[in-house]
Amino acid sequence: MSGYDSTARLALFPITARVEGGAGGERLTIDGHDLAALANEHGTPLYLYDQATLDAAVASYRAALEAYPAASGITYAAKAFLCLAVAQWAQARGLWIDCSGAGEIAIARAAGVPRASIVVHGINKSPVDLAAALVDGGTVVVDHPGELEHLAALMAGGQPGPDLWLRLRPGVAVDTHAYTQTGQSTSKFGMDAADVRRAVALCLARGLPLKGLHFHLGSHFHHPDEANPAIDAALDLAAALAADYRWQPAVLCPGGGWGVPYHEDDLPHAPAAQYVAQVAMRLEAGCRQRGLPLPRLQMEPGRSLVARAGIALYRVGGTKQAGDRRWLLLDGGLVDNVRPALYGARYSALPVSAPNRPSAGPAWLAGPYCESGDVLASALPLPDLGPGELLAVPVSGAYQLSMASNYNGARRPAVLWIAGGRVHLVRRREEVADMYRLDEALPAGYP
Ligand code: LLP
Repeated sequence: MSGYDSTARLALFPITARVEGGAGGERLTIDGHDLAALANEHGTPLYLYDQATLDAAVASYRAALEAYPAASGITYAAKAFLCLAVAQWAQARGLWIDCSGAGEIAIARAAGVPRASIVVHGINKSPVDLAAALVDGGTVVVDHPGELEHLAALMAGGQPGPDLWLRLRPGVAVDTHAYTQTGQSTSKFGMDAADVRRAVALCLARGLPLKGLHFHLGSHFHHPDEANPAIDAALDLAAALAADYRWQPAVLCPGGGWGVPYHEDDLPHAPAAQYVAQVAMRLEAGCRQRGLPLPRLQMEPGRSLVARAGIALYRVGGTKQAGDRRWLLLDGGLVDNVRPALYGARYSALPVSAPNRPSAGPAWLAGPYCESGDVLASALPLPDLGPGELLAVPVSGAYQLSMASNYNGARRPAVLWIAGGRVHLVRRREEVADMYRLDEALPAGYP
């Protein structure tokens, strides 16, 4: 029988997670809340976000940024997960929000986020995205020269437009899954240095409000010095731009990308603060070396702010032995978490009741959907769990619900927000009728 270290697994959960004893035995709680009671009330699969964990992540970013002797800030990458509550939280904490287009902008605006705090990204922004990006200020990150031409035409002679940043493709491949690398020389994202130079010239010639340089190397990397070569490349470019065009970026944004531990085998993991401190140091030293003024340093994290704050609760419907494999059949999987299927991501889990029970050997966590790849965890040591038991999957706050689908007609889960001793339902579970809400039946005579 292989064992598992429930203490190590607990360290993956939100900072308010505890194993608490009681008359009915030990159970996993978040901020003192009984997860079984929440699952009974709201159904499963169920997602929970712990505000204290979100706040702690912001605080550690901020503390590390204090080492940078010029202005700095944090933009929350909404693609990791956005709903009204997250946007309200980000706004209340003074974060800017990176929106990928009109849809995310609409959510942020509906939550009361001022346009000035919104940074719009996108590799091929649609007319609808551009229309939403161009109203009332804020920032647009330009992905390619053709887009800049288009923007210049849209902004010519109109209202004062948004600030522009240019997205550099620094030609740096970070150590992560190939699907989440974005800064390598062959990436579809951003412009090489020569295109950025031409873009700067065009902005200056047309009087466009060019304010910053941006790059994003990829997502879920783990070495604090991964961004160093890209910072150096951006500063070499900035020095050339200063010499040739007398233009200097007021803002430098090195994107997001810092990774998090998902599984106890990923521990120990360097904290985000170590990465941020490294970026701040490299940027400051690099500017001094090249005689450049220090730009505002604007970090753009998603996962490292929200991943640990979220957990997913699933109910075991049954078990199955298939050859030498013990399957636990869960009521969620690929639909709410495509990451194991898409990136081979490794997750862990703890039973909600008696999480310290001994392991009964490796278990495979099967989602209910019609895909053999719908497996949330493989060979994960777990106790004997029977039908009706709850499993909590930690580190579920990023790129799970935001990538969720309705495959097999599955209804996307409800989301609870836990803060200050209270629980609030911030997203209802989809209903069966939502599955055809946008459909139009064919008129008579078609089929
Ligand atoms: N900035 C830009 C321009 C980005 O494209 C991204 C993520 C971020 C910031 C935030 O990166 P983070 O700090 O969250 O790593 N679906 C994948 C991750 C895709 C990331 C896309 N861009 C996953 O589940 O691993």
